Amino acid sequence: MSKGDEMEPKRDTGPSMFDMKSKFGGVVVYTDPVNRERTDSSDNVMSLLQEEQVFWWEFSKDSIEWAINTVKAEIDFLDVGTGSGVFSLLIAKNTNAKNIRAIDKSARAIEVAKRNAHINDLNIDFRHEPYSEHTAARRSCKVIGFNPPYHLYPSEIEDKMPQHARGGTDGQGVFKEQLTIADRHLADSGIIAFNQMCLGRNGAPEFARYIPELVKETSLAYTNILPPMATGEFLRGVYGDAFLEYQTQTANAFPELYYCNGIISRDNGGKVVVIKHTVPLKGRTWADRIELHRQVALHGLK
Ligand SMILES: C[S@@+](CC[C@H](N)C(=O)[O-])C[C@H]1O[C@@H](n2cnc3c(N)ncnc32)[C@H](O)[C@@H]1O
Repeated sequence: MSKGDEMEPKRDTGPSMFDMKSKFGGVVVYTDPVNRERTDSSDNVMSLLQEEQVFWWEFSKDSIEWAINTVKAEIDFLDVGTGSGVFSLLIAKNTNAKNIRAIDKSARAIEVAKRNAHINDLNIDFRHEPYSEHTAARRSCKVIGFNPPYHLYPSEIEDKMPQHARGGTDGQGVFKEQLTIADRHLADSGIIAFNQMCLGRNGAPEFARYIPELVKETSLAYTNILPPMATGEFLRGVYGDAFLEYQTQTANAFPELYYCNGIISRDNGGKVVVIKHTVPLKGRTWADRIELHRQVALHGLK
């Protein structure tokens, strides 16, 4: 170790995409490093990041706690695409939730999530299944958690994308599909707490337009975790000179790129509002996001 290293302690930037173990919100969570070799039948479990799952928890926890304690419905928390189980673990550990149901279409995710629950001494109903109308009864969920896949990729590499990143070439396919199903599951006065990177134009992410159409009788409050950036610049950072036609077409159709958290409330409000947040980012920026998506894209470029 050099003298300089001794004097400058390592900066705390929160969990990293190469970590296999993270601790926050009172839980320990095991995940896969982003560069683990994968197949569809042994897929990677999404890494944890300060601006992603830590942010989601800090931004949403008060609304989640309110809904769990106030809304009248059978399921306290429905965790759609649970991955490592992180959202369910946080809610089981820190709220009065008794009935948590967590699903994922990836078998490995459910195995890892079950192990994480055991390590944290928590009892959670993890199920290996794709999200569908059969996942829960109509209007039975107080809180639904979403962090659907939103990576941007050309169709040529779709089959090689990890399922945690495979949401359609515009990154919105799975989110829209899941919102349509959640419209059935969300209780009166219930909430959906989501994280999402989203293409946009004319000063707003596309989800601000389609959420009110897909989830009825609701209002939406969302925050820009990071300030919006140019789609073209992001795609260039991720893919360099590869897939230039995809890059140009995507950036022309949607010049703006947003990275957001949002709360959809079944309150008949009919409003869409953008709010500012005060959640610490620990120095994380779009440069970190680009590097994360570059690492994901490498699965398709090998
Ligand atoms: C971006 S990861 C998020 C994982 C975890 N919620 C987190 O925040 O770390 C998305 C997860 O959704 C799962 N998934 C994708 N499509 C799904 C579907 N149709 N039904 C159930 N799970 C799905 C993936 O396997 C992946 O584990």
